[in-house]
Amino acid sequence: MNLSRRPLPLSNAPNFPLVLAPMVGLSHVGLRLLVRRYWPQGAVSFFPTEMLNSRRLPGQPLGATPETKRSHDEQDLVPQILGNEEEPIRRSVTLLEEWGAAGIDINMGCPVEKALKHNYGVALMGDPDYAAQVTEIAVRSARVPVSVKLRAGPQNDREFLSKFVRRLEGAGASWLTLHPRTPEQKRRGRADWDQIRFVREQVRLPVIGNGDVQTAADVKRMLAETHCDGVMVGRALTARPWLAWQVGEDLGFAPPSGLEGCRAPRTPLEEGAEMGRGLKYFVQVMREYFPEKLGVRRTQFLVRTSVPWLTFGQHLFALMSRGETYAQLENALDEFFAQEQTMVGSTELRS
Ligand SMILES: Cc1cc2nc3c(=O)[nH]c(=O)nc-3n(C[C@H](O)[C@H](O)[C@H](O)COP(=O)(O)O)c2cc1C
Repeated sequence: MNLSRRPLPLSNAPNFPLVLAPMVGLSHVGLRLLVRRYWPQGAVSFFPTEMLNSRRLPGQPLGATPETKRSHDEQDLVPQILGNEEEPIRRSVTLLEEWGAAGIDINMGCPVEKALKHNYGVALMGDPDYAAQVTEIAVRSARVPVSVKLRAGPQNDREFLSKFVRRLEGAGASWLTLHPRTPEQKRRGRADWDQIRFVREQVRLPVIGNGDVQTAADVKRMLAETHCDGVMVGRALTARPWLAWQVGEDLGFAPPSGLEGCRAPRTPLEEGAEMGRGLKYFVQVMREYFPEKLGVRRTQFLVRTSVPWLTFGQHLFALMSRGETYAQLENALDEFFAQEQTMVGSTELRS
């Protein structure tokens, strides 16, 4: 694997190619700690938050809202903001730096109706000047690096994409993450990895590739095929939070802390058993950080996202959906994982 990649200009000097994707309702402290449980020792990357609205953020108690709760030792957070106005962005960036952000990511990929109506998220891709201005505002306001997460251009127009990413580079972005689907595709269809390779050729910045990565082999393949500088994974990390362990093992990193002497789960049965242990750990973490009602809902959402990789996943989802307390969720997990379970490597990613 080619490791001579463009370095991400973060103060903690990332040396590992995997990154968790920002996901509303999922990439909170609970999922981050679950993924970190399996993180190889010595591997350095960065972690996201959920998308944070820059209009609302300045009025909220940072660190106390579900989206900004963090563990005290998370020094590698690159929160993602949604916005398009100078003052809210400036204030949000300043507050997030005080909160401990190592970098700031700007969302230019969110395709939901509300974002389009307010002219941010992927709407910014409709206007390269505006997108560059928003990037400049964030860069001017920040002492830490600023990145942009974007989608494919309209109708997969490469000429547009080339101009767009060059404008972002000129506006001072420190790296780009590309999820190569058009806004209309949302998360359906196939991510066009060829566009990741293309974007990397258009700029001198590090480029992180994203979309449809499910296994350690996919990580390797995306790095090899696109020459990207990092691989961002969303949905599959909810099911296979030990993906970093598998990738790290292949790259020669030490096992995660507390798992010295163990090998990463690889077979369908090993992964099935680990999913049970991982989910039990997740509920423990949620109990520590979230009030029960919210924590139960978020756990159910995580399970809903992860069950396509589990052979009898719909049964687990049905059991978990009935739970109203953390204890009931734990009982459901005990009941389901009392039988041997198996996971599949790849699944159709339809939602
Ligand atoms: C439930 C959910 C919420 C998401 N929310 C965000 C978000 O807030 N910001 C963002 O940039 N992308 C968001 N995404 C998109 C992911 O970051 C990622 O680009 C997409 O899922 C493709 O990667 P994957 O195939 O590895 O899941 C979300 C995805 C999911 C499944």
